[in-house]
Amino acid sequence: MEFTENILVVYLIIGCFCEIISKNGVVEAVHKVYPHLQSKTALTVKQLHRTGYHFQPPMNWINGPMYYNGIYHLFYQYNPKGAVWGNIVWAHSVSKDMVNWEALEPAIYPSESFDINGCWSGSATVLPENKPVIFYTGIDPNQYQVQNYAVPENLSDPYLRKWVKPADNPIVVADETMNKTAFRDPTTAWKIGGHWRMVVASRRKQRGMAYLYKSRDFRKWVKAKHPLHSVPNTGMFECADFFPVSLSGDTGLDNSAFGPNVKHVLKVSLDLTRYEYYTIGSYFPEARDKYVVGKGFVDGWNGLRFDFGNFYASKTFFDPSKNRRILWGWTNESDTAQDDVQKGWAGLQVMLLIDLYDNVLIL
Ligand SMILES: *[C@@H]1O[C@H](CO)[C@@H](O)[C@H](O)[C@H]1NC(C)=O
Ligand SMILES: *[C@@H]1O[C@H](CO)[C@@H](O)[C@H](O)[C@H]1NC(C)=O
Ligand SMILES: *[C@@H]1O[C@H](CO)[C@@H](O)[C@H](O)[C@H]1NC(C)=O
Repeated sequence: MEFTENILVVYLIIGCFCEIISKNGVVEAVHKVYPHLQSKTALTVKQLHRTGYHFQPPMNWINGPMYYNGIYHLFYQYNPKGAVWGNIVWAHSVSKDMVNWEALEPAIYPSESFDINGCWSGSATVLPENKPVIFYTGIDPNQYQVQNYAVPENLSDPYLRKWVKPADNPIVVADETMNKTAFRDPTTAWKIGGHWRMVVASRRKQRGMAYLYKSRDFRKWVKAKHPLHSVPNTGMFECADFFPVSLSGDTGLDNSAFGPNVKHVLKVSLDLTRYEYYTIGSYFPEARDKYVVGKGFVDGWNGLRFDFGNFYASKTFFDPSKNRRILWGWTNESDTAQDDVQKGWAGLQVMLLIDLYDNVLIL
């Protein structure tokens, strides 16, 4: 499709993708890596079983969703060279209706020391004055996971094709008390009072950690005294998502919304189970800047899930054109790696609308 009209609004869709930790070439995550297949390009892409409605790239591996600003931008984790996980870049597609998509060149790919071994999941935030910023996890020369940011090269380009990585990257690195190889997937930022905040997912031994970072100017980020939340015995948190929901209306809320009729949802992807868990609770930005799980909600492996099938690494974004919050997540087909290479593609994105009625999250 072509976009010839003036585009007034742009939404930012961002993806969380989150996989694999490779340490000295040894892969430790639950998910399998196939080094001999990851750069094997399909000669033909089989159309059988491809979807008409859900988002799929033209070929090869995909995992992870997105978010963005009149145009929906889908950024997603993508292997440009093969149909299994590897060579991960931030691919980029744009759409006006989230059904018909146009593929652009990758928005972010390894190029600097702070991301030379991979450009993994993250989020987009649209700052006041309508300026989008991407946070993403870069894998550095030590295989450490560091948090970087990127900004559009030309804000007048309605497709925001090119993104630049400013020289003051990385903006957040793990300190000595933290696990440098388990620290990833920065969230969309939110602002209450004078401070911006964001969360980075991690683990401390077997405790899932949602570390909180704060900034006044969006460049200098300082770790908060307490994590936003942590849960014992869950294993690694990935792709944390933290967003407000309204108790008094059925529209979605901007990430910075806060007040007496607002509750918060914290969703985490658990690497060990490969499912998406959420709780609804209260957020106290002033006192300890902590999230407190609501009564009756269960944290961890026995908690509520977004879905019970293959559905992982989801992210939401607020769509201000329709005042709704949309959730994207990655699903796979349960094929073998050999099948994926044969058919030339793997995985797709599914989309849900989030609504809160009487304290119940309806998906
Ligand atoms: C920025 O994008 C606009 C719209 O596409 C284009 O007219 C302009 O030439 C671009 N500027 C630069 C410096 O590339
Ligand atoms: C740090 O994280 C990595 C990857 O999840 C894990 O293999 C390692 O055991 C962790 N280190 C500690 C001290 O927990
Ligand atoms: C894809 O599906 C298979 C089979 O259901 C599942 O075991 C696997 O964990 C999924 N892949 C990932 C990367 O989650």
